[in-house]
Amino acid sequence: MMRLGVIGAGNISGAHIKVAPLIADQVKIVALADPALAPLARQSARFHIDRIYSNIDEMLAADDIDGVVICTPHHTHAKLAIAAAKTGKHVLVEKPMACSADECHAMIDAADCAGVRLMVGQCQRYDPAYRGLRRAVHAGELGCIRAARIETMQNAAAFVPAGHWYRDGSLAGGGIVISVAIHKIDLLRYLIGDVVRVNAQCRTIDPAFINGAEDLAVATLEFASGAIGQLFASWGAFRLRYSENLMIFGDTGAVHALPETPTQMGPAWIASRQRTPTVEPGFAGQFGGFELVAPDQTGLPTAESFANQLVHFAECCRTGAEPLSSGRDNLRTMQVVFAIYESARTGQTVELPQ
Ligand SMILES: NC(=O)c1ccc[n+]([C@@H]2O[C@H](COP(=O)([O-])OP(=O)(O)OC[C@H]3O[C@@H](n4cnc5c(N)ncnc54)[C@H](O)[C@@H]3O)[C@@H](O)[C@H]2O)c1
Repeated sequence: MMRLGVIGAGNISGAHIKVAPLIADQVKIVALADPALAPLARQSARFHIDRIYSNIDEMLAADDIDGVVICTPHHTHAKLAIAAAKTGKHVLVEKPMACSADECHAMIDAADCAGVRLMVGQCQRYDPAYRGLRRAVHAGELGCIRAARIETMQNAAAFVPAGHWYRDGSLAGGGIVISVAIHKIDLLRYLIGDVVRVNAQCRTIDPAFINGAEDLAVATLEFASGAIGQLFASWGAFRLRYSENLMIFGDTGAVHALPETPTQMGPAWIASRQRTPTVEPGFAGQFGGFELVAPDQTGLPTAESFANQLVHFAECCRTGAEPLSSGRDNLRTMQVVFAIYESARTGQTVELPQ
């Protein structure tokens, strides 16, 4: 049984805490910490967690806590993760790992030095729907992957209040790319491999986004495999039918994760020569033959990505295995984000460190 303390009692802390009962034989959330008393009191009452700390160091000093889940603004991730590792706590840090490559390296070093596991909460990797997609891609159902396209679109004005740290590049490390599109950047890496080259443009349209937080971004991505990808991210989308989108194009198949609900991407649809060898010929035929990708729950204890993520974290802490979304792996995702920002700033194509 792994005993966890959650640091940061805001919005996403609830997503971690509420799934713990599903995996009660493996993980228990025993404490909650936040320097702000209002969210601390709110989440403590909502989830019946009596053990609360407004002083994070006091929680980190507790001997009966094995690890922490860091659910705080991005500029605090590195400092908190390093402090936790130094007290011998395993660390699950919410995405994005941190705000710079130097911070990421320092977190990896601190965890290695302390002999604790460092994992990043890229929850989509623990979603059975995307596991099913990965299995299909890796089984060669699409043939050779040539291209991919990801979209992330939200109307921030409708739900992110003015003055929120998400709107401040000095606290969030950037704007929509580091805060939201990172999910799909990491997912693409998980599905089709590493990115080696990036070219991007970013804009800040809404003046309520400050200190370099972009609310509009486009980027082209080149993968190690030679495949090319396109990213579109907007926090200024006025009204839309959906928020997220993913497409993958191979020689003998295609995937389109058609949004099922406005806010979630929903399951992926796949068409491939293997699944539907005889499609109608002609222009109309190319739009048919899609079928749902069956979720793959192999090795995942539940249908809930956040519960699966916590169990994977607990297992890696127990066995010493490297997490699927370890800090070391996630550095590569962060480097794509930082390359997008560098390219947008310099107007140059950016090569990722090898
Ligand atoms: N996985 C996902 O789908 C997902 C979704 C939303 C947010 N997130 C991530 O979760 C993290 C938190 O986002 P949120 O939306 O919950 O933010 P939030 O603003 O709702 O909550 C953050 C909390 O952290 C507290 N905090 C600030 N500084 C702190 C410090 N130094 N030590 C301890 N607590 C501190 C704040 O008081 C606040 O209660 C971010 O990294 C965000 O990107 C992930």
